[in-house]
Amino acid sequence: MTPDTLQLLFSDKQIEQRIRELAGQISADYHGRHLVIVGVLKGCFVFLADIIRSLDLDLTIDFVKVASYGACRESSGVSTLEKDLGTDIRGRDVLIVEDIVDTGETLAHLIEELQKRSPSSVRVCALLNKQARRRAAVAVDYVGFEVDDVFVVGCGLDFDERYRGLPGIYALPDETV
Ligand code: PRP
Repeated sequence: MTPDTLQLLFSDKQIEQRIRELAGQISADYHGRHLVIVGVLKGCFVFLADIIRSLDLDLTIDFVKVASYGACRESSGVSTLEKDLGTDIRGRDVLIVEDIVDTGETLAHLIEELQKRSPSSVRVCALLNKQARRRAAVAVDYVGFEVDDVFVVGCGLDFDERYRGLPGIYALPDETV
């Protein structure tokens, strides 16, 4: 059930529509190529499951786990690869799939790590982009929605492991935490 205190930012219908648009763009950009999708756990799992089913491409799907906010609202700023890929990405086209890019530090660390493995290309697709808090200069090639500097939950995003299953995307009021 959706707690009354959450403020709806994007409905499940809006998200579904935007994901279809993004998938169309990605399918056109990678037409005829095999794409390695790298999901960043945990938050990516809802968005990733939705977008791969709309991609008209030959895909390999793998996951990494980088860092965790836990019960704290601020990123630690330190990222460690807790779970690595099982896929060799040398010479492959890689698309990183994120639920949100916030400070960009998780992504910057991950891209640096993946580039060491000599992929043919690395691009990023994120459901949400929070430009206001960016600290690391990272390019997000495919963005679902831009969001302001508010704490967002739903569609894979959590606060203290809650709300990941909400079908829409919601802002968490400041007084909640
Ligand atoms: C979130 C999100 C990104 C990262 C973005 O993950 O999924 O991976 O934070 O933050 P940044 O741009 O400031 O680095 P989180 O650490 O909350 O873990 P989770 O995906 O398991 O919820």
